[in-house]
Amino acid sequence: MAKQNIYDNEVFFKEYSKLREREVNANNLFELPTLFSLMPDLKDKRILDLGCGTGERCIDYLNLGASKVTGIDISENMLAVAMSKNSNPNITYINMPMEDLDSIDEEFDVVISSLALHYVEDFTGVVKNVYRLLSDGGIFLFSQEHPLATCYSGNGDRWTRDENGRKLHVNIANYCVEKRNDSTWFVEGVQRYHRMFSTIVNTLADSGFRILKMTEPYPTEELVHKYPEYYDLYHKPDFLFVKAVKQ
Ligand SMILES: C[S@@+](CC[C@H](N)C(=O)[O-])C[C@H]1O[C@@H](n2cnc3c(N)ncnc32)[C@H](O)[C@@H]1O
Repeated sequence: MAKQNIYDNEVFFKEYSKLREREVNANNLFELPTLFSLMPDLKDKRILDLGCGTGERCIDYLNLGASKVTGIDISENMLAVAMSKNSNPNITYINMPMEDLDSIDEEFDVVISSLALHYVEDFTGVVKNVYRLLSDGGIFLFSQEHPLATCYSGNGDRWTRDENGRKLHVNIANYCVEKRNDSTWFVEGVQRYHRMFSTIVNTLADSGFRILKMTEPYPTEELVHKYPEYYDLYHKPDFLFVKAVKQ
């Protein structure tokens, strides 16, 4: 199956790095607080991070007591940063796509993936491997772009606006058509895979997971007051979080 490695595109990598360096971004305001609010106890746990990127979270997991962390990522650029800025004797970084998890034969207590699974075509294959690699009672915690965001094809304005350009509502098309959607994000042709909410839930259930919690973060009124642009998230959440247990 096709795998795109867009984070090794130099323009994309530079712009994405700039975005993550900004103090005010959706990752810092919504994604990370939600991820940590759902985090299981990591004390003495073996962690696998799918799409670990530049490795900041791998260090966080050690700081939360994890005994060892394995971070895998398809991008050499992202792992080069991880190895230079976030290395630790208890972290192993591996340059590989998560579609190739078959090649790993090691047990983990917690598998975490932050904003990477929407880049994967074979979601079922990854979920089955995560189940195989987890110990009994192990936790799979992931975030991905929300299904209401991934069905956007990148053609035209994502918003219907009033005559002053104010956003009225989101334009949704083909929610029930599960396919790769290519859009422009820093560069043209960024490939993301759209799956319906029900497909995500059913794939986990069919693979043997029990869902503990799902979260779609949105801003508090105080936050919208401070950063009005994030009112957008009341119309359409950006992120979907799932926490599931291997039964
Ligand atoms: C949005 S970044 C998130 C990085 C990190 N998890 C974080 O939250 O800071 C997505 C990461 O997923 C990686 N990625 C995309 N497709 C992948 C795949 N098929 N296998 C492994 N990693 C992948 C990218 O290279 C990138 O580092």
